[in-house]
Amino acid sequence: MHVTLRQLEVFSAVVKNESFTRAAEALHLSQPGVSMQIKQLENSIGLQLFEHIGKKVFLTDAGREMYVYSQSISQMLDEAEAVVEQLKGVQSGKLTISVATTASHFATRLLAAFSKQHEGITISLDVTNREALRQQLEQNEPDLVIMGQPPDGLDVDADEIMENPLVVIAPADHPLISEKNIPLSHFASEHFVVRERGSGTRYAIERFFEQHGVSFNTGIEMSSNEAIKQAVEAGLGLGIVSIHTLELELETKRLQVLDVQDFPIRRYWYIVQRKGKRLSPAAQAFKTFVLEQAKEFIHLP
Ligand code: PGA
Repeated sequence: MHVTLRQLEVFSAVVKNESFTRAAEALHLSQPGVSMQIKQLENSIGLQLFEHIGKKVFLTDAGREMYVYSQSISQMLDEAEAVVEQLKGVQSGKLTISVATTASHFATRLLAAFSKQHEGITISLDVTNREALRQQLEQNEPDLVIMGQPPDGLDVDADEIMENPLVVIAPADHPLISEKNIPLSHFASEHFVVRERGSGTRYAIERFFEQHGVSFNTGIEMSSNEAIKQAVEAGLGLGIVSIHTLELELETKRLQVLDVQDFPIRRYWYIVQRKGKRLSPAAQAFKTFVLEQAKEFIHLP
């Protein structure tokens, strides 16, 4: 049986995504490219791995067996990689970090400072929303993740880094700016410019309004905090964002924080890893750096 690691990687992606098309997207391959790898794998083991029923793909018995082996092989490769990273030590390892969109406002600064202290470490940074981070943790892809509330129902170790208050923002000439302690109920008829579904900020805001028994109306949805701030500045509506995204706008007074009852929404940043994951020396050094020194590099407005 002549099987390549690439074929097993493509095979696992089809199983996890339950689709050839989605696997192709995840691996940045064409759909025919994925089909060809699967065909070659099926030819070399001499059995079919998938059944196509309607638009769905299902594993055959042979597919299920192969999947078990392909999982163990990929786990062993991860272990081998971790051992090799240990041998390389902290001076020349590889670090794979994923951070929440909102955390990118300070995470890049942290990585820059860390990288100055450890010039030999190669860093790969992915910036995405909470839901995508949850999936990455599930697949055990990044060494470490920086995110808001750690995900439920997933075995992770999470250490608190610092506070992440969410505040209501308005354009500099908004009539509510001079008001004090504005009741939350005032906003029941307001339409907010909000982050997309799957964002931790969006999730926290909706839960907050629900807990306070006030209805929350979403206006335009945007997947970037920068776009939200620009939209609020342009008068498209009020926004609710993390204070970490506001440094420049508050300094230049382009936006103002409203004094709203029960605000800010109290949230925290965490550094998260899969439970039991063996961190490479580079990843361990980064985690220690974040927990011990992050606050020195981050100045809240
Ligand atoms: P987000 O995450 O960028 O997905 O909103 C931030 C958070 O979890 O608070």
